[in-house]
Amino acid sequence: MPGTILVTGGTGYIGAHTVVKLLDAGFPVVVLDNLCNSSRTVIDRIQKITGKPLCFVEGDVRDRHLLQNTLQRHSVSAVIHFAGLKAVAESEAEPLTYYDNNVSGSLILFEEMARAGIHTAVFSSSATVYGESGSAKYGEKYCEDRPLAPVSVYGKTKLMVENILRDLKKAQPQWRIALLRYFNPAGAHHSGLIGEDPSGVPNNLMPFVAQVAVGKRESLSVFGNDYPTPDGTGLRDYIHVEDLASGHLAALNVLNQKSSLITLNLGTGRPVSVLEMIAAFEKASGRKIPWQTAPRRAGDIAACFADPTRAQEILGWKATLDIDRMCQDAWRWQRNHPEGYC
Ligand SMILES: NC(=O)c1ccc[n+]([C@@H]2O[C@H](COP(=O)([O-])OP(=O)(O)OC[C@H]3O[C@@H](n4cnc5c(N)ncnc54)[C@H](O)[C@@H]3O)[C@@H](O)[C@H]2O)c1
Repeated sequence: MPGTILVTGGTGYIGAHTVVKLLDAGFPVVVLDNLCNSSRTVIDRIQKITGKPLCFVEGDVRDRHLLQNTLQRHSVSAVIHFAGLKAVAESEAEPLTYYDNNVSGSLILFEEMARAGIHTAVFSSSATVYGESGSAKYGEKYCEDRPLAPVSVYGKTKLMVENILRDLKKAQPQWRIALLRYFNPAGAHHSGLIGEDPSGVPNNLMPFVAQVAVGKRESLSVFGNDYPTPDGTGLRDYIHVEDLASGHLAALNVLNQKSSLITLNLGTGRPVSVLEMIAAFEKASGRKIPWQTAPRRAGDIAACFADPTRAQEILGWKATLDIDRMCQDAWRWQRNHPEGYC
């Protein structure tokens, strides 16, 4: 019987899909989430999808006593740490909130893990850690060894936590750590029961397009049509959230086999332009997506996509679902839940 996995932020978008994979794979799971950006309903939905019971602890990763209790009571053997704030613009406006939640929250979690003798951690990092330093030449994939220079406060919090974990591994080699740098998670569970439920105006392209398709928003602004890309719009690496979730399971399995620190891109390596995404969503939804061009946004780059080779080699994992499938699943979720979980 495998040990219990604590999933912080497990009612959030990526966390929920990962919990489904863990339960399906037979891991006992306990979710800890303060619900600041998610809904309790997610727990029922996960139980419905998997047909398995799921323990939920409502609370904050900065609450030491709650952590101590949870780690002990559930005999936790490893932690997947998703809990954090992720809105780039908000992080610029509220840096202290972001450093406190994302960095202090992680520190407290790792301290309590160490105190409880738990040394296996999978951390949600992000392609934002690459920032603009040594910007890739157009068409160049991002490999894990390129320079790290995040621009936003959000990206800096991710790099800080990566550094904390690297230092920890150096000092205490018994730690087993995976730093997973996600590219652009998209799509929803194929059941249509769980998906991305952004509060307010979506920061990411696919949920925005989905809200236009369902009639919640009038039209989409395409920022920049003069990039040096085939159709002039920005290229990104969208990865199906179910593929991303499987990547976590693969990382956990590798860490269970050998004590190591792995830093991996989780992406497809296949760039998709904004116009390609719109076309794929129109095909999936059968609806026209009104859009207009707008000036480039400061900080946006022409292309950002992963070199996923290392993840394939180390995890034996590869993203398999394409942009059409991401749009079909996102549309099923959006059509069934025009107002999200509420
Ligand atoms: N979605 C993306 O585009 C993306 C890309 C790269 C990295 N990430 C990272 O992946 C992780 C998960 O992202 P997501 O898209 O699922 O976000 P999300 O907001 O849907 O999920 C995060 C969850 O963490 C919870 N949470 C936040 N602070 C908490 C705290 N202090 N204590 C307990 N729970 C807390 C929220 O309520 C939410 O349920 C985040 O760390 C995010 O920074 C996301």
